[in-house]
Amino acid sequence: SQAPKVALLGAAGGIGQPLGLLLKQDPLVAHLALYDVVNTPGVAADLSHIDSNAKVTAHTGPKELYAAVENADVIVIPAGVPRKPGMTRDDLFNTNAGIVRDLAAVIAKASPKALIAIITNPVNSTVPIASEVLKKAGVYDPKRVFGVTTLDVVRSQAFVAELKRLQSTVRIHTFLCFQGHDASKTVVPVVGGHAGITIIPLLSQVTPSTKFSEEEIAKLTPRIQDAGTEVVNAKAGAGSATLSMALAGARFANALVRGIKGQKNVQCAYVASDAVKGVEYFSTPVELGPNGVEKILGVGKVSAFEQKLIDASVPELNKNIAKGVAFVKGN
Ligand code: APR
Repeated sequence: SQAPKVALLGAAGGIGQPLGLLLKQDPLVAHLALYDVVNTPGVAADLSHIDSNAKVTAHTGPKELYAAVENADVIVIPAGVPRKPGMTRDDLFNTNAGIVRDLAAVIAKASPKALIAIITNPVNSTVPIASEVLKKAGVYDPKRVFGVTTLDVVRSQAFVAELKRLQSTVRIHTFLCFQGHDASKTVVPVVGGHAGITIIPLLSQVTPSTKFSEEEIAKLTPRIQDAGTEVVNAKAGAGSATLSMALAGARFANALVRGIKGQKNVQCAYVASDAVKGVEYFSTPVELGPNGVEKILGVGKVSAFEQKLIDASVPELNKNIAKGVAFVKGN
């Protein structure tokens, strides 16, 4: 089979469809295997009319899951139900926990060496769930299981660029030195987890080096933490972020594939980690390579404000992790 193969589980959904479109256009992807419980043939036929390097195959229903993930190098999972207004990511727990557990059980058999990128929420719990299933099957490798937190990075990048672009304009009018802020070049590390107070943007580590007032930090931080809810409320019952999440998922899948091809690169991701004491899974920048996580880079030098947020995230993450572990152990 051609490599790299990327399998997309939940390919017919609100995230899955635009994510499939982006992966179809990724020149590094040779085979894109689409899996869902419904509508996969239609999505695959549609995407197959785009001429690109990636061959598309369709796999529908549990009987075809094995073939979808067999020999996959990367497996991206947005399968599950999305949030509605008033719901937290944790409210999705029971349905999505079962979906991720069952998908992971087949991956453990068909494709134990694949790099697994989990989008299904609550990510803080679904990553431990998949990991427990792989442990039970004796094929767990902590370097190969990821919770995708790239959307928090994408949002931070946009919000910071938006804020600083506005200030640049002000500077022009006051004839001060103009320094434009290019969103595509702004890097904001986001650590912790992927829900509420566990989302911790490290505004002290933004590159290119950017100064924020205390007031700006006090505004930006909760906006980044609650950005998902902004979308849930605006969609008014139609679901949660799909388009920006698809972009983030495609960006992360591309980073994994580049790593597999020997192009080491650094991304934030929620992984099994000893970066922060007292918590088993934590998102920090990690170096990606041929076997997934090559190096956990950790949180680096953080401000006192950020350290407080990290400390507050630990008990919350531990609750989310324990809930995931208990779900697998109790079933
Ligand atoms: N196996 C594969 N696909 C499944 C399964 C399953 N067991 N169960 C549901 N799906 C599919 C659905 O058929 C649907 O096509 O997952 C897709 C989910 O799509 P949407 O309902 O549109 O949800 P979406 O907005 O894409 O969000 C999916 O990602 O960010 C998270 O919180 C979000 O957990 C949610 C997930």
